[in-house]
Formats: sequence, C-alpha cells, structure tokens
Amino acid sequence: MKKIIFKKKPIVCLTAYNKFFAEMVDDYCDLILVGDSLGMAYYGNSSTRSVSLNDIIRHAKSVRMGISKSIMVVDMPSGTYSTPAIAIKNAKKIIKETKCDAIKIEGGKEVEKTIKLLVKNKINVMGHIGLLPQKIKSIKDFKVKGKNLNESKKLINDLKCIEDAGVFSVVVEAVKAQVVKNLITISSTPLIGIGASKNCDGQILVLEDLIGFFDRVPKFVKKYMNLKKQVTNAVKKYSADVRNRKFPTHKNIYY
Ligand code: KIV
Repeated sequence: MKKIIFKKKPIVCLTAYNKFFAEMVDDYCDLILVGDSLGMAYYGNSSTRSVSLNDIIRHAKSVRMGISKSIMVVDMPSGTYSTPAIAIKNAKKIIKETKCDAIKIEGGKEVEKTIKLLVKNKINVMGHIGLLPQKIKSIKDFKVKGKNLNESKKLINDLKCIEDAGVFSVVVEAVKAQVVKNLITISSTPLIGIGASKNCDGQILVLEDLIGFFDRVPKFVKKYMNLKKQVTNAVKKYSADVRNRKFPTHKNIYY
C-alpha cells in the first residue's frame, strides 16, 4: 500500500456511506471514512456493533466509486480484529474488495500487536482513541474521556502504544480539551479530533450529523443545515399535490 501523507493542514475529514455522498464531499475533504457509525446513522441501530464485515465492504465499494482524490479509510467493524491473525485476514479482504487506502481500528494498548502486524504487512492503519463507539452498548454509555488522572494517563499511554506500533494518524473522540492538549504535545502523527480540540491537526464528523438528519446530536456536532426539515417539507408538498391531483402535471406525462 502507498504510504499516506497529508498535503494540507488542518486536515478535513468526513464520513460517507455511499457513492453519491462521497461525490459531494470529495472536493472539500482530505480523507473520507467509511465509518461503522453506518450502523447508527444509516441503519438506525442503537450502536455501531451491528455492522458486519460484509456491510462495511458493500458500502465501501459504493463510496470508492464516488472518490477521485480523497484518502479513503474503511472502519474494521467490531469483532473483525479480535486477534492479530483475524485482523490480517479481514483487513486484506476489505482492501482487496474495496481498494481503500487504509483501515481504521479502535483501541489503545490492547490493539498494539494487531497494528504492528498490519503495518508489517504494509497495511496503512488509522487509530482511534478516547470514546470508542464499538465498546458502547447503549446511548447511556456515551461519556467524555479524560475526566480524571487515570483516564488521562491511559489516553497518553494508548496514543504512545499505537503510534509506536505504526499508525499513520489517530482519531481522538470525545476527550476533554485539556487532555487533548497533552496528547498534541506528545503526538508524532496527525491527530484528528471529533469532540476533542480545535488544535488537533484535523477534524472529522459524521456527514449525516452535520447536514441535519437528526434532531438530537452530540455537543461536538455543528449542524450546517437541517436536511430532515427540508425533506419533510418536500414530502408534505408532494403529498398535498397528489391528494389535490396537482401532480403529475402535463410536464411529467408521456404523450
Ligand atoms: O464510525 C465513524 O464514523 C467514526 C467517526 C465518528 C470517527 O469512527
């Protein structure tokens, strides 16, 4: 795999789950992640844990068709990297079928050996520390990290472990800004924040969150539009037109 080097900073990252959204964001992003947030933001499940290897591959194949310049990263779903050997087998399958540029796995010290083996096999690996969605079973478990000394020490140790193991970049999710400051000081790879700090090397968000698919979003999301409202209004108008026989008009009919 070709080594990943970011050309511009701050690094702009977003998720996409299909070709059409990937096409819309490609020009404005440096990195597009086919995230396993797919389970929640696309399929409406209560966690990311329901996403299978086949699900992520299917969506990533679609995303691949929509990307012409951004780096494409695919999340390895929960349970697909439980041992280094399983991780290698599944990462190779993802790369072969989706032609992605890198894979992402969640965790710190516990995935150090796995990352080492993946990197040894010339696979680009993105790390993910802080709040780890794959460890979360229900919405109540979404809690900010770095709230005490033990959590802060663990985050620093996790970052060191995965950077030493060879990740090219690390997502830092929902971590107290003061702790992120320390992570930035010691980091040797670009840190991509989501609910972290504006001083990270880049930022990532779930696309559906920023375009306003949902009423409730985490504090770290900025909604740039309200797509839910716009779609609802459009459908309401369509429904009224059909009921009042205002649609189809002559323009929509074959003569
Ligand atoms: O799955 C995902 O979309 C992610 C991002 C939130 C970083 O991991």
